[in-house]
Amino acid sequence: MRKPIQRFQTHLPVLEALPKWRPVSTVVELGGGVASTALFRDPAVYPDIRLVTWETDPQWASYLEKAADERCQVRRTPWMSDAVLELEEGLGGDLLFVDCDPEGARNLALRRLADKYSVVVLHDAEREDYRLAQLMYRNRVVYDALTPHTAILSNTVDLTGLAALLRTAPLAYRVAA
Ligand SMILES: C[S@@+](CC[C@H](N)C(=O)[O-])C[C@H]1O[C@@H](n2cnc3c(N)ncnc32)[C@H](O)[C@@H]1O
Repeated sequence: MRKPIQRFQTHLPVLEALPKWRPVSTVVELGGGVASTALFRDPAVYPDIRLVTWETDPQWASYLEKAADERCQVRRTPWMSDAVLELEEGLGGDLLFVDCDPEGARNLALRRLADKYSVVVLHDAEREDYRLAQLMYRNRVVYDALTPHTAILSNTVDLTGLAALLRTAPLAYRVAA
Protein backbone atom coordinates (compact mmCIF):
# COMPACT_ATOMS: atom_id res chain seq x y z
CA MET A 1 0.00 0.00 0.00
CA ARG A 2 1.15 3.56 -0.71
CA LYS A 3 0.12 6.87 0.83
CA PRO A 4 0.62 10.50 -0.27
CA ILE A 5 3.89 11.99 0.91
CA GLN A 6 3.73 14.74 3.54
CA ARG A 7 6.19 17.60 3.91
CA PHE A 8 8.44 15.84 6.41
CA GLN A 9 8.62 12.67 4.27
CA THR A 10 9.95 14.07 0.97
CA HIS A 11 13.20 12.08 1.28
CA LEU A 12 11.32 8.74 1.12
CA PRO A 13 11.43 8.29 -2.69
CA VAL A 14 15.22 8.64 -2.55
CA LEU A 15 15.64 6.24 0.36
CA GLU A 16 13.37 3.73 -1.34
CA ALA A 17 15.22 3.97 -4.67
CA LEU A 18 18.72 3.59 -3.21
CA PRO A 19 18.71 -0.19 -2.53
CA LYS A 20 17.15 -0.81 -5.98
CA TRP A 21 20.13 0.97 -7.51
CA ARG A 22 23.03 -0.57 -5.54
CA PRO A 23 23.43 -2.87 -2.52
CA VAL A 24 23.09 -0.98 0.75
CA SER A 25 23.93 -2.81 3.98
CA THR A 26 25.69 -0.52 6.42
CA VAL A 27 23.66 2.61 7.13
CA VAL A 28 24.11 5.41 9.64
CA GLU A 29 21.21 7.76 10.20
CA LEU A 30 21.65 11.10 11.95
CA GLY A 31 18.20 12.01 13.28
CA GLY A 32 15.54 9.31 13.47
CA GLY A 33 11.77 9.43 13.17
CA VAL A 34 8.64 7.78 11.88
CA ALA A 35 9.50 8.26 8.20
CA SER A 36 13.13 7.36 7.43
CA THR A 37 13.81 4.98 10.32
CA ALA A 38 10.65 2.99 9.58
CA LEU A 39 11.64 2.68 5.92
CA PHE A 40 15.18 1.54 6.73
CA ARG A 41 13.72 -1.06 9.07
CA ASP A 42 11.35 -2.46 6.44
CA PRO A 43 13.01 -5.73 5.32
CA ALA A 44 11.13 -5.61 2.02
CA VAL A 45 13.06 -2.42 1.17
CA TYR A 46 16.37 -2.95 3.03
CA PRO A 47 16.72 -6.74 3.41
CA ASP A 48 20.39 -6.76 4.52
CA ILE A 49 20.61 -3.63 6.59
CA ARG A 50 22.78 -2.91 9.60
CA LEU A 51 21.37 0.42 10.76
CA VAL A 52 22.56 2.70 13.52
CA THR A 53 20.27 5.66 14.20
CA TRP A 54 21.84 8.45 16.24
CA GLU A 55 19.36 10.49 18.24
CA THR A 56 19.72 13.51 20.56
CA ASP A 57 16.16 13.80 21.82
CA PRO A 58 15.53 11.35 24.71
CA GLN A 59 11.82 11.01 23.94
CA TRP A 60 12.40 10.26 20.29
CA ALA A 61 15.20 7.87 21.25
CA SER A 62 12.83 5.98 23.57
CA TYR A 63 10.23 5.78 20.82
CA LEU A 64 12.76 4.49 18.29
CA GLU A 65 14.22 1.97 20.75
CA LYS A 66 10.86 0.21 21.06
CA ALA A 67 11.32 -1.34 17.62
CA ALA A 68 15.13 -1.63 17.72
CA ASP A 69 16.73 -5.03 17.24
CA GLU A 70 20.11 -6.52 16.31
CA ARG A 71 19.83 -5.19 12.75
CA CYS A 72 18.58 -1.73 13.66
CA GLN A 73 20.05 -0.03 16.69
CA VAL A 74 19.66 3.37 18.31
CA ARG A 75 22.57 5.35 19.76
CA ARG A 76 21.78 8.23 22.09
CA THR A 77 24.02 11.26 22.13
CA PRO A 78 23.59 14.60 23.89
CA TRP A 79 25.16 16.42 20.93
CA MET A 80 25.01 15.31 17.30
CA SER A 81 28.42 16.89 16.73
CA ASP A 82 29.86 14.35 19.21
CA ALA A 83 28.36 11.57 17.10
CA VAL A 84 29.99 13.00 13.97
CA LEU A 85 33.40 13.12 15.64
CA GLU A 86 33.00 9.51 16.83
CA LEU A 87 31.90 8.38 13.35
CA GLU A 88 34.93 10.10 11.86
CA GLU A 89 37.08 7.61 13.76
CA GLY A 90 34.95 4.62 12.68
CA LEU A 91 34.84 2.34 9.66
CA GLY A 92 32.25 4.21 7.62
CA GLY A 93 29.77 2.34 5.44
CA ASP A 94 27.47 2.32 2.43
CA LEU A 95 25.12 5.15 3.33
CA LEU A 96 24.98 8.15 5.65
CA PHE A 97 21.57 9.80 5.95
CA VAL A 98 21.70 13.32 7.41
CA ASP A 99 18.40 14.65 8.77
CA CYS A 100 19.28 15.81 12.28
CA ASP A 101 18.99 18.98 14.30
CA PRO A 102 20.71 21.42 14.57
CA GLU A 103 21.94 22.72 11.21
CA GLY A 104 25.53 23.00 12.41
CA ALA A 105 25.68 19.27 12.99
CA ARG A 106 24.44 18.60 9.45
CA ASN A 107 27.21 20.76 8.05
CA LEU A 108 29.80 19.10 10.26
CA ALA A 109 28.62 15.66 9.10
CA LEU A 110 28.75 16.66 5.42
CA ARG A 111 32.26 18.02 5.81
CA ARG A 112 33.86 15.49 8.13
CA LEU A 113 32.26 12.24 6.90
CA ALA A 114 32.37 12.82 3.13
CA ASP A 115 34.93 10.09 2.48
CA LYS A 116 33.71 7.61 5.10
CA TYR A 117 30.47 6.69 3.32
CA SER A 118 30.00 5.67 -0.31
CA VAL A 119 26.85 7.77 -0.53
CA VAL A 120 25.60 10.63 1.66
CA VAL A 121 21.95 11.70 1.55
CA LEU A 122 20.91 15.09 2.91
CA HIS A 123 17.32 16.18 3.55
CA ASP A 124 16.34 19.88 3.24
CA ALA A 125 19.12 20.24 0.69
CA GLU A 126 17.86 23.53 -0.76
CA ARG A 127 18.59 25.39 2.48
CA GLU A 128 21.28 28.01 2.12
CA ASP A 129 22.97 26.78 5.34
CA TYR A 130 23.91 23.51 3.60
CA ARG A 131 24.90 24.88 0.18
CA LEU A 132 28.66 25.19 0.59
CA ALA A 133 29.17 21.83 2.26
CA GLN A 134 27.37 20.08 -0.61
CA LEU A 135 29.61 21.74 -3.19
CA MET A 136 32.60 19.91 -1.68
CA TYR A 137 31.35 16.63 -3.18
CA ARG A 138 32.48 15.46 -6.61
CA ASN A 139 29.09 13.98 -7.55
CA ARG A 140 25.72 15.46 -6.62
CA VAL A 141 22.14 14.76 -7.63
CA VAL A 142 19.21 16.70 -6.19
CA TYR A 143 15.77 15.12 -5.95
CA ASP A 144 13.50 18.15 -6.26
CA ALA A 145 10.22 16.59 -7.39
CA LEU A 146 9.11 17.16 -3.79
CA THR A 147 9.95 20.04 -1.44
CA PRO A 148 11.98 20.03 0.82
CA HIS A 149 14.59 18.68 -1.59
CA THR A 150 16.91 15.74 -0.99
CA ALA A 151 20.54 15.69 -2.16
CA ILE A 152 22.51 12.55 -2.95
CA LEU A 153 26.24 13.17 -2.67
CA SER A 154 29.33 11.07 -3.32
CA ASN A 155 33.04 11.45 -3.88
CA THR A 156 33.46 7.91 -5.20
CA VAL A 157 30.21 6.66 -6.78
CA ASP A 158 28.75 7.74 -10.13
CA LEU A 159 25.17 8.77 -9.39
CA THR A 160 23.85 8.75 -12.98
CA GLY A 161 21.94 5.47 -12.54
CA LEU A 162 20.22 6.69 -9.41
CA ALA A 163 19.25 9.96 -11.09
CA ALA A 164 17.56 7.95 -13.87
CA LEU A 165 15.72 5.79 -11.34
CA LEU A 166 14.49 8.84 -9.44
CA ARG A 167 12.90 10.27 -12.57
CA THR A 168 10.30 7.48 -12.36
CA ALA A 169 10.07 7.23 -8.56
CA PRO A 170 6.50 7.12 -7.21
CA LEU A 171 5.35 10.30 -5.46
CA ALA A 172 3.84 8.24 -2.68
CA TYR A 173 5.43 6.27 0.11
CA ARG A 174 5.37 2.57 0.85
CA VAL A 175 3.62 1.45 4.02
CA ALA A 176 5.35 -1.54 5.59
CA ALA A 177 3.21 -4.69 5.58
C1 LIG B 1 13.94 16.17 10.81
S1 LIG B 1 13.68 15.19 12.22
C2 LIG B 1 14.22 13.60 11.67
C3 LIG B 1 13.16 12.89 10.91
C4 LIG B 1 13.54 11.47 10.49
N1 LIG B 1 14.78 11.41 9.76
C5 LIG B 1 12.44 10.84 9.66
O1 LIG B 1 12.50 10.93 8.44
O2 LIG B 1 11.50 10.30 10.24
C6 LIG B 1 14.99 15.73 13.25
C7 LIG B 1 14.81 15.41 14.73
O3 LIG B 1 13.52 15.83 15.14
C8 LIG B 1 12.94 14.86 16.01
N2 LIG B 1 11.80 14.29 15.31
C9 LIG B 1 11.69 13.11 14.67
N3 LIG B 1 10.48 12.98 14.14
C10 LIG B 1 9.79 14.10 14.43
C11 LIG B 1 8.44 14.56 14.18
N4 LIG B 1 7.58 13.82 13.48
N5 LIG B 1 8.09 15.77 14.66
C12 LIG B 1 8.94 16.51 15.36
N6 LIG B 1 10.22 16.14 15.66
C13 LIG B 1 10.63 14.95 15.19
C14 LIG B 1 14.03 13.83 16.32
O4 LIG B 1 14.70 14.25 17.48
C15 LIG B 1 14.92 13.94 15.08
O5 LIG B 1 16.25 13.59 15.36
